[in-house]
Amino acid sequence: MTDHAADGVRVVVITGAGSGLGAAMAGVFAAAGDAVACLDIDADGAEATAKAVRELGGEAMSGRVDLADPASLQAAAEAVQRRFGGCDVLCANVGVQQFGAIDHLSAQDWQWVLSVNVLGTVATVTSFLPLLRARSGRRHIVLTASSSVLNPGVRLGAYTTSKYAVVGFGETLRMELEQEGIGVSILFPAGMSTRHLESSRLARPAQLGPSLLRNEDVAAMLASRDMDDKTNVVTPEFAVRNLLDDLARNEPYIVTHGGYRDALVRRQEAFVAAYDRMAGSNDVTAPAR
Ligand SMILES: NC(=O)c1ccc[n+]([C@@H]2O[C@H](COP(=O)([O-])OP(=O)(O)OC[C@H]3O[C@@H](n4cnc5c(N)ncnc54)[C@H](O)[C@@H]3O)[C@@H](O)[C@H]2O)c1
Repeated sequence: MTDHAADGVRVVVITGAGSGLGAAMAGVFAAAGDAVACLDIDADGAEATAKAVRELGGEAMSGRVDLADPASLQAAAEAVQRRFGGCDVLCANVGVQQFGAIDHLSAQDWQWVLSVNVLGTVATVTSFLPLLRARSGRRHIVLTASSSVLNPGVRLGAYTTSKYAVVGFGETLRMELEQEGIGVSILFPAGMSTRHLESSRLARPAQLGPSLLRNEDVAAMLASRDMDDKTNVVTPEFAVRNLLDDLARNEPYIVTHGGYRDALVRRQEAFVAAYDRMAGSNDVTAPAR
């Protein structure tokens, strides 16, 4: 055990660290001198990320967690406490994907996506929050949402719904933890060249049946978001290039890349217009109409 409670080394816990964005996050934190705990349902992947950190001279542990199983998260929190003596930064980064039009998504699809992406994210935070609270100084929680919240597209209904919930959770968490000195940032990655579809397929419980991926769903999604799969897709390492600076400033929202600004402004304007249409007609003392 290396107890980092008093030596100034931050302990960073990352879920979904077995590949992609989580592994890239592990790289940037380790390069900054932080000790990293790499957690994933794919134990080999998590250990591969930890090994890569150690080979670069950093300090890392790994462990298997299944976000759908709160007991495994609790056990992981206890293992991190034993190994590193606490947690200063938590990156709740796991998300699974299931494409499909609303009338093609099965009840099992919805159950799986919402249980992992929403309830799994909540369970991740509640399992590690006591470790964060037991530390002092600057602490942080990072939640991985998605640019699909900023610029929704077709065939992503279950996923986008789940990531909206992650945003709602994160907004609330940020307000509730502010007085304790624990920052909360929500990350909105756009397309990245990761194993997301494959890892989602592998992580899906067998009893829910196979995860169907139809190329036409992907094509329809890209077209509806005015994207193509070449110009908008970056490496996860690129996506985290400003992560540490944004966290140091406790930015509420972190966008990685992608040309969604105009779509975001249009949506914001539609909200403001809805509010303005109501202005003048919101006299609550007027008789009900
Ligand atoms: N790849 C993209 O284009 C993209 C875009 C926007 C948001 N995201 C989000 O980024 C995050 C990371 O995804 P990624 O692209 O790096 O994919 P990835 O497949 O490289 O990483 C996701 C990891 O999560 C793990 N995982 C899946 N289910 C799990 C479970 N039940 N318990 C524990 N671990 C589990 C997988 O084994 C995998 O290692 C996700 O939240 C995803 O929704 C990805």
